[in-house]
Amino acid sequence: MEKKKFYITTPIYYPSGKWHIGTCYTTIICDALARYKRMQGYDVFYLTGTDEHGQKIQKVAASHGVEVKKYIDGVVDELKKLWDLLDISYDKFIRTTDEYHEKAVQKIFQKLYDKGDIYKSAYEGWYCTPCEAFWTKTQLVDGKCPDCGREVELTKEESYFFKLSKYQDKIQKLIEDDKEFLQPITRQNEMLNNFIKPGLQDLCVSRTSFDWGVKVPFDPKHVVYVWIDALTNYITALGYGGEDEELFKKYWPADVHMMGKEIIRFHSIIWPAILMALDLPLPKKVYGHGWLMFNNDKMSKSKGNIVDPFILCERYGVDALRYYMLKEVPFGQDGNFTNEIFLKLRNSDLANDLGNLVSRVTAMVSQYFDGVIPAPTDCNDIDKDLIALAEKMYPTVTAYMDEMRAPEALETIFKVIQRANKYIDECTPWILAKSDEGRERLKTVLFNLCETIRMTSVILQPFLTQTPAKIFEKLGIKEGMGLTDFDSIVKFGAKIDGLKVDKGEQLFQRIDIAKELKVMDEILEEERRRAKAQAKKENEKVENAVTLQQIGIEDFAKVELKVGTVLECKKVEKADKLLCSQIDVGEEKPRTIVSGIAKYYTPEDMVGRQVIVVTNLKPAKLRGIESQGMVLCAEDENGDLALITPCKSVKSGSIVG
Ligand code: MSP
Repeated sequence: MEKKKFYITTPIYYPSGKWHIGTCYTTIICDALARYKRMQGYDVFYLTGTDEHGQKIQKVAASHGVEVKKYIDGVVDELKKLWDLLDISYDKFIRTTDEYHEKAVQKIFQKLYDKGDIYKSAYEGWYCTPCEAFWTKTQLVDGKCPDCGREVELTKEESYFFKLSKYQDKIQKLIEDDKEFLQPITRQNEMLNNFIKPGLQDLCVSRTSFDWGVKVPFDPKHVVYVWIDALTNYITALGYGGEDEELFKKYWPADVHMMGKEIIRFHSIIWPAILMALDLPLPKKVYGHGWLMFNNDKMSKSKGNIVDPFILCERYGVDALRYYMLKEVPFGQDGNFTNEIFLKLRNSDLANDLGNLVSRVTAMVSQYFDGVIPAPTDCNDIDKDLIALAEKMYPTVTAYMDEMRAPEALETIFKVIQRANKYIDECTPWILAKSDEGRERLKTVLFNLCETIRMTSVILQPFLTQTPAKIFEKLGIKEGMGLTDFDSIVKFGAKIDGLKVDKGEQLFQRIDIAKELKVMDEILEEERRRAKAQAKKENEKVENAVTLQQIGIEDFAKVELKVGTVLECKKVEKADKLLCSQIDVGEEKPRTIVSGIAKYYTPEDMVGRQVIVVTNLKPAKLRGIESQGMVLCAEDENGDLALITPCKSVKSGSIVG
């Protein structure tokens, strides 16, 4: 039988290079869903990628003094590393600078133009560059962007427009009638009341004031508006508008477009209108999740939290981060992140509940049955209660995952884990082990515990990508035994007796929270120092880039360079790097010049040497000494430094040039 397909997408990411755990949220939740569906037997296609055109990226790259594509390539590599680190199981990564995508965007634009849904006019209005969004004056809030609150620019350009207004009724009907389309349900009223009912206006879909974008095929001084370019990725990635449309035929329409709540407007109004204009089926669901906040602030630069996913994963494990993200952002609402809640959750759920259960049970199987899982011998009411809960887990979790309620899904699984811990206390294996009769009963108890651990590990696989495999290893479960897939957790009591357990290492070491919070503060301090140094370096680069602009001879002639002879030289007190020299530059009196070369030259090295001096530099005070010029040196990228000297002795004051 042909597998049912499931096409799930994240938004494509701006290559900003500023990744924090909030930005990973959409990708992690999609990954858990994609993995869940794969395990259910669906033929899954999980798409992610990068949104690389637009004024914002062009400006960022320019500020780094780098060619745009080159800059983005570096950032995209970093992003892919991040997704690998987080075990994101995407099937395709699309870049909007991929040639096939650009060509398909042009085809789509042409098609809409030929159909009369795109027309030429002039745009006059407000543009928010960070959001790449157009606004009318009445939509602004206190004259600023209603989405991000930042400054907007008044823009006046000849532009192409998409007839969004033509689709007003159809879009309204879509949101009102198809209750499944836009989720969670609260978003429906938000879109209807704030955008649709007040009247959809035609959308400006081309720009001429910059050129980093897909060129409009029939008018190349225009580039396609970046949101049109970006939204169409969901179909061009499948080959739409290209030579091979097989994937498109197979997977479109998307089952879920997942995104943060701030970009629902684009996905639930503009995107369906474009698809309607192209006569294509609409996605089945647009899901706008809440944000991960940091002490109730959306921005990452907040108040003493480690938000760098690389650091968190390295120190606490990928699963700890994935668990937090999936558990702590409630259905459709915002979640909060603090170092402390993160550590507490890791301790309570992963180390205490799950980790302890596994180590207690494997230790008991080792101690009482030489490490071999025993076969059950009976089934009493306490057993039945545990078994019923374990068997209910899969259908309950599936129902939650169908509604994208990962926190409740995890809660259901951890209730079973907690129940198993309680079951140990109720059954008191250490007492059972003392009598022959008790040892018979103990076989059932330990079998039930191992089976519960197995079942919970199976269903944890889409959420935690590393721990379940470790647990299977501890239980002696190998691939191919049919004990790790969803079919094996429908009924309790798989054939695991006879398997040899291996207690091995703790899954999650318990963390001393007070101590660790201090370590986290130190890490943050170190990060701040590094970021400051990096920012300084970047500033210097930009400054250098400015000075490195070509200059005419008239500019060069403004600099007076002369050969000087060092007459005297001494160290500047309390300044490790500075030497103060008296240098004869052919004038009445020698000049006093302070130079930062003490690490490379001693005063003795300097006396008698000839150097090149910038003689018309404004005097500057260094450590209270007025320096009347500058001695030229060469410095390599390792910071090694050498004085520039004439290669034979010349008269002091000779002009250099
Ligand atoms: N490029 C657009 C999307 C175009 S899709 C056709 C974009 N990119 S983004 O990089 O800004 O955002 C990517 C995803 O990260 C979005 O779903 C966004 O909501 C999500 N998040 C960024 N910060 C977030 C949090 N702090 N919390 C949760 N998700 C957030 O928008």
